[in-house]
This record gives sequence, structure tokens and C-alpha cells, in this order.
Amino acid sequence: MEPLERADKIAVLQQLDETQVRGCTRCELHRHRTQTVFGEGDPDAPVMFIGEGPGQVEDRQGRPFVGPAGEMLDKWISAIGLTRDQVYIANAVKCRPPNNRTPLKPEVDACADYLLTQVRTVQPKVIVTVGGPATKLLLDTDDGITRLRGRWHAYNKVDPPIPVMPTFHPAFLLRSYSKDNRAKIWDDLQKVMQRLDELTG
Ligand code: URA
Repeated sequence: MEPLERADKIAVLQQLDETQVRGCTRCELHRHRTQTVFGEGDPDAPVMFIGEGPGQVEDRQGRPFVGPAGEMLDKWISAIGLTRDQVYIANAVKCRPPNNRTPLKPEVDACADYLLTQVRTVQPKVIVTVGGPATKLLLDTDDGITRLRGRWHAYNKVDPPIPVMPTFHPAFLLRSYSKDNRAKIWDDLQKVMQRLDELTG
């Protein structure tokens, strides 16, 4: 990937949002949205978190991870020594699935090149996928999150490939809180922090 200037990144992301994502009708999810949720954060972020899709609060506010799952994600971001405005946050799909159901594969696929452009533009050193849909999309696999989490993988649609750490979704921890699940996620985040230290010095 050619390195990009910050101002160019901002322009590319803004153009993608305004000219393509906001008016998108590529899949049925557009019928249910209040508005699209493009993603936000530092265009030079060393780490990009990728979730599943907007929930109710996100759909109302037009921003990713601002509801209950977002409060949990904020804690995870501070666990790796960063703040929300130092990372970039996006989702596999940009429109809220009705009743917060999991987005279907054709919906994720229809939205995939928006995310690809976001990754190619931000050029993070490390990607953290939270939950199954984002992980499956980036790793191009049908394996479940329980199998994939906690190990480094690679996003190969960019050159050079970007390291990917899949972990559970914050909403999963809220639903199924246990010390064991929390410890697994903390372990995954430790690995992210170590890798970032190695890559950014
Ligand atoms: N869950 C997600 O996956 N993404 C959001 O933006 C909010 C909740």
C-alpha cells in the first residue's frame, strides 16, 4: 500500500461516505435504517476495530458503538492504552439490521467494498474484529469466532497483509458475562497491545 497523507485520507473517507454509503441501496437493510453509520476515528489510527453493524442507538445517532456495546468497547480500547479518538471504528454493515439480527452474508458482501476502502485508506497496523460477521468477512472463512479468536490471522486483501486479532463481540460479553469470557478477551487485547508496541515502537 502506498502511504497516504492524513488530508488525503480524510478526503477519501468523506467522499466515500457522502457519495456512496449515505445513499446506498445495495441490499434490503437500507429499508430499515434511520441513517447509515459510516465509521469514525483517527484516519491515522494504528488500530482499527471492526464490529458487526449498527444497533438501535447507533442507527439514531449515526455513529458506531455509542450504545451499551460501545461503552464496553471503550473499556477495551483503554485496556490497550488508547482512547476512542486514537483508534478507528467501523462495522461490517453500515445499516442497522432489523431487531438487531445478525447481518446475512449477502448483506455483508454487498457492503464489503466500503470497508475495504476504509481499511486501505486508514492503513492500520493491526485490525481487531469483534464477533463473527466481521471476522468471517475479513478472514474469508466460515469458521466460528470461538475457534478463531485469540490467534493472529491476516487480512489478505491488502498488500502487505494486515494482522487481524479476532475476539468476542462486546455485546456477547454483556449477554454472557463470566470471568472466563472476560479473561479470554483481556488476553486477546494483551496480544494486540504487544503487537502494537512491536510495530510502532
Ligand atoms: N454493535 C456493533 O457491532 N456495532 C455497533 O456499531 C454497535 C453495536
